[in-house]
Amino acid sequence: MADLSVDHLLGIKNITLADIELIFSTADNFKEVINRPIRKVPSLRDITIANLFFENSTRTKLSFELAEKRLSADVINFSSSSSSVTKGETLIDTVNNILAMKVDMVVMRHPNPGAAAFLSQNVNSRIVNAGDGTHEHPTQALLDAYSIREKFGEVAGKKIVIVGDILHSRVALSNIFCLQKLGAEVMVCGPTTLLPKYVKSLGVKVETNLLKALEWCDIANMLRVQHERQKLKYFPSIREYAMQYGVTKEILESLDKEITIMHPGPINRGVEITSDVADSGQSIILNQVENGVAIRMAALYLLASKISR
Ligand code: CP
Repeated sequence: MADLSVDHLLGIKNITLADIELIFSTADNFKEVINRPIRKVPSLRDITIANLFFENSTRTKLSFELAEKRLSADVINFSSSSSSVTKGETLIDTVNNILAMKVDMVVMRHPNPGAAAFLSQNVNSRIVNAGDGTHEHPTQALLDAYSIREKFGEVAGKKIVIVGDILHSRVALSNIFCLQKLGAEVMVCGPTTLLPKYVKSLGVKVETNLLKALEWCDIANMLRVQHERQKLKYFPSIREYAMQYGVTKEILESLDKEITIMHPGPINRGVEITSDVADSGQSIILNQVENGVAIRMAALYLLASKISR
């Protein structure tokens, strides 16, 4: 059986195209499993996984937990607000205490960039990055690209614009790496203040005019403005942001082709997209969420196959 080139899933930057294709083909099998009347397989029986969330999450947390349960793993959940981290325990001590309970793998979301890589170098466990601050969110990028592949047959040659708060977005960075490895053309679009200065060096097109970006693309991935990571004001007001960078039904109807709308969630309806866009036939937002379970099953299964006990 083919193997991943990595022992941990820390980001898309450090995995290969072959890794991505292996995760996709494994997810195809698991997608078939989760659409059966009995949605469970015994693949990870006797594997114990800890989900450590130091930051809020709905989709990623529940989707990892469901993926683990569909694979028959034993699952424990940790949230920092109700843990001894509030009493001053360090990340390494916290995780080593959890691992002492015979845990095999750790899925972690953390507000600090590099936290997952740091953990992988300091504890004896497989680590899956479920989002580390503004750095990477690898399973989100994989499920996004998988959803494009599902809709269009392939990702290569597609034109994808990522719109919004690129500066604070781990989804943007992981998507750029993933889509480029798969042969797509990527553009980023947003106010200059929310575009990192280094962004051109990633090989993406840069556009500040939303209409021009939408006219260029096949797919628009709309990002939320991440107020919780912003220490400064990057635009005058939400109303003005929505007027310049929000996608409405009227804008979509003014284009000379039908584009596909994506969003990693959570959506701020009426800001980055209006409700009639989010809920329209052009949106594949709930397909992204559905595919998250199969992608996470695939990633966990492939990493677990490397555990030696
Ligand atoms: N897309 C995403 O990461 O959503 P959550 O923050 O709800 O997990």
